[in-house]
Amino acid sequence: MRVIASIAAMQRLALKRREEGQAIAFVPTMGFLHEGHLSLMARARKACSARGLLVVSVYVNPTQFGPKEDFAKYPRAPARDAALCRKAGVDILFTPSDGEMYAADFSMRVAEERLSKSMEGASRPTHFQGVAVVVAKLFNIVLPDAAVFGAKDFQQAAIIRRMVRDLNFPIEIIVAPIFREADGLAMSSRNKYLSAEERLQAPILFVALQTAKNAVAKKPLPRAQLRQKIERLIASQPAACVDYVEFFDPQTLEPAAKVGPGAQMALAVRIGKTRLIDNAEL
Ligand code: PAJ
Repeated sequence: MRVIASIAAMQRLALKRREEGQAIAFVPTMGFLHEGHLSLMARARKACSARGLLVVSVYVNPTQFGPKEDFAKYPRAPARDAALCRKAGVDILFTPSDGEMYAADFSMRVAEERLSKSMEGASRPTHFQGVAVVVAKLFNIVLPDAAVFGAKDFQQAAIIRRMVRDLNFPIEIIVAPIFREADGLAMSSRNKYLSAEERLQAPILFVALQTAKNAVAKKPLPRAQLRQKIERLIASQPAACVDYVEFFDPQTLEPAAKVGPGAQMALAVRIGKTRLIDNAEL
């Protein structure tokens, strides 16, 4: 495995490999890698085959964090991340610096105007502009044929698909399933913030998804009624505080009036100071 920090070196190598006909598969991450990330790497390897080039980036992107968010204390473990990537059969680990990614007078925006307004976009107004701009940059640097994203960040994956369609990036977007702990908690770098007591309460997000799924399997329910039921359930955990619970069309992300099987549910819940998200098809 090669570790590359320079943008120019990464782009040169990608251009050369493409000229030689080698497929490039890419997994962008912010590091502090867990099994969810590793499952995306396995999926990416399948996409480019043993002969292809598997590129993983680890970059904690400052522009997707709000001013009061956890950019400075976002967990970082570069040596451990490199060891995990090597073990996962990654060919290139790309680790650019802030200085190279964002010039002091950086002045471009990539704004998605429709899918990014609700849920994470409503709670974190500048978040998806930051995600879109960094992913567009990474695509232009790594030049992948295919890129793999996790269904864990459902809205993010929808926005990246839209960006690729609307701006004509010649890249196949693959969305891989959510990887969970044994008790249902979706793996996340932020789970590390949870105290032992909070960790016991965190599976309530998964329980909420299961409960909603069972509820609508019998008969479709009005959105407000289902939301109230789920919010009550989450409130049974003393450390939990709901940010949002939404039911929507998985393609358009438009809210569903009546929620039945096939609708998508997403939620964000604070457990103590830690904000967790999860989602599922009902
Ligand atoms: P990060 O949170 O590190 O996640 C990197 C990728 O891993 C994302 O596509 C995310 O959806 C996926 N992922 C995280 N937890 C997962 C789980 N439990 N199961 C399956 N996939 C999971 O998402 C980002 O970084 C950033 O916004 C990024 C796209 C890298 C842009 O900065």
